[in-house]
Amino acid sequence: MARIMVLMLLSLSLISILPLLTTAMFHVKGCVYCDTCRAGFETNATFYIQGATVGIRCQDRKTMNQVFYTEGVTDSTGTYNIIVENDHHDHICKTVLVKSPIAWCNTPDPGRNRSSIVLSHYKNGVLNHLHYANSMGYLKDEPLPQCHQLLQYYLSDSDI
Ligand SMILES: *[C@@H]1O[C@H](CO)[C@@H](O)[C@H](O)[C@H]1NC(C)=O
Ligand SMILES: *[C@@H]1O[C@H](CO)[C@@H](O)[C@H](O)[C@H]1NC(C)=O
Repeated sequence: MARIMVLMLLSLSLISILPLLTTAMFHVKGCVYCDTCRAGFETNATFYIQGATVGIRCQDRKTMNQVFYTEGVTDSTGTYNIIVENDHHDHICKTVLVKSPIAWCNTPDPGRNRSSIVLSHYKNGVLNHLHYANSMGYLKDEPLPQCHQLLQYYLSDSDI
């Protein structure tokens, strides 16, 4: 009797563990910043935004219909960490800016408003994978006064 109970419990726990083993899980990480110089890239006057809402959107490759959507919010370091279940190798997925909590820094930078991500482990065969997305940014309404000098520094630096 006791043995049967143990077997039953064992098989029950196996049944509850199996989906975890077969479901792909992806941690998507990335940052949201405020470009205080409207430079189009991160400078040393850039700061990272806490409480920004980020979306992950997947579309079907053929029909381009949206097949998956989820959201997350950035922490005090401007970093979001969104968990996506299931493999999306048949889909085109990207992170997108949804909302900035800062009224004077809520214009998405057209060049940094999204980041492509590949939510598939078919190539490396590893479950529970960490995926890094490129940083995305909002533009401050008015550039800071020191930006002129700062940008000259960055531009001369890139000429070398
Ligand atoms: C950014 O870098 C420039 C050039 O090195 C420097 O003059 C400026 O003080 C820095 N600004 C900040 C906010 O650190
Ligand atoms: C990002 O900005 C470009 C250029 O304005 C626009 O075409 C695109 O739809 C935007 N993407 C997202 C996800 O908002």
